[in-house]
Amino acid sequence: MKALLLAGGSGSRLRPITHTSAKQLVPVANKPVMFYGLEALRDAGVREVGIIVGDTAAEIEAAVGDGSAFGLDVTYLRQEAPLGLAHAVLIARDYLGDDDFVMYLGDNFVVGGIADLVERFRAERPHAQIMLTRVSDPRAFGVAELDADGRVVGLEEKPSEPKSDLALVGVYLFGPAVHDAVARLKPSARGELEITDAIQWLIDDGRRVESTVITGYWKDTGNVTDMLEVNRLVLEGVEPRVRGEVDAASELIGRVVVEGGASVARSRIVGPAVIGAGTRIRDSYVGPFTSVDRDCAIDRSEIEYSIVLRGASIDGVGRIECSLIGREARVTPAPPVPRAHRLVLGDHSTVQVSR
Ligand code: DAU
Repeated sequence: MKALLLAGGSGSRLRPITHTSAKQLVPVANKPVMFYGLEALRDAGVREVGIIVGDTAAEIEAAVGDGSAFGLDVTYLRQEAPLGLAHAVLIARDYLGDDDFVMYLGDNFVVGGIADLVERFRAERPHAQIMLTRVSDPRAFGVAELDADGRVVGLEEKPSEPKSDLALVGVYLFGPAVHDAVARLKPSARGELEITDAIQWLIDDGRRVESTVITGYWKDTGNVTDMLEVNRLVLEGVEPRVRGEVDAASELIGRVVVEGGASVARSRIVGPAVIGAGTRIRDSYVGPFTSVDRDCAIDRSEIEYSIVLRGASIDGVGRIECSLIGREARVTPAPPVPRAHRLVLGDHSTVQVSR
């Protein structure tokens, strides 16, 4: 069993972060989201992983290397443009050969891993096995229609009028029959080769497509709200650990991680929270469900339920909540007169100011 991990694409819903960085590398509890996927594959007994890369290939390759740090054997497969999930399978044809494989979308997060699913696939050997989960707005996903016996009869990609609330989770298991399907696909209305259409082809051709409805936690981390939720969830599980310096005037409450080389002075940190290596926290409050990456500086400020990326600084700005702050970003107070917001925002930024 091999794996195909998709780390190409453009990440338009996480702009401006993804103007400069791959969306699969946005950190959750200070670890790139796709690392959790690589670990889930390894824990399911997969060793050979083909990673689909696009414009951000260099950055992904620098982060993952040859995969040995994960106990994996990684091969990079270059996709010239994000032409669809099924296009990724098409270009991986030689790499995959006739092996069974797990296809894992690099921005998906499945709590509890995928070992059970892989086990079931190995035992039953259907032509494809998909995972479904109930969502409140199915229009943003691939959507499955089941018959009275729970068998998948139809699949539609991002339908405007969904036939159910069962969304396709971004982890699929395939036998080699999927290559017959992919080879016959035509681009969809949005110009992509859709894996949803490939699975529909397998169903229409009478092949065996199994599905499982999962009730556990799954998120597509393609937008900020979901990213913050996944971060919250992972932080719920951290073990407290203090390797950096915390002065006597500071207080750490609950599960707080302070990495080596970090320093905390005259501050209060309420966990779960992680403070990355080399980060400095002074005269500040860091509240629950906050990840501050390495080499950041937080002075005279309050922050809660947020993700702060490497090298950012926040100084004297009162309270920040529900925020994603990019690498090397600077947040400072405006001069007192005139009373105005002063913004230098990257393309496609989102700012919500309190009045
Ligand atoms: O997250 C689950 C959903 O993922 C499913 O419900 C949908 O059926 C499926 O089409 C997919 O929808 P998204 O719109 O979320 O896919 P996205 O374009 O975000 O791509 C998913 C991952 O695959 C992401 O890490 C980028 C990568 N990718 C995407 C495309 C289109 C590639 O590597 N190459 C590509 O050509």
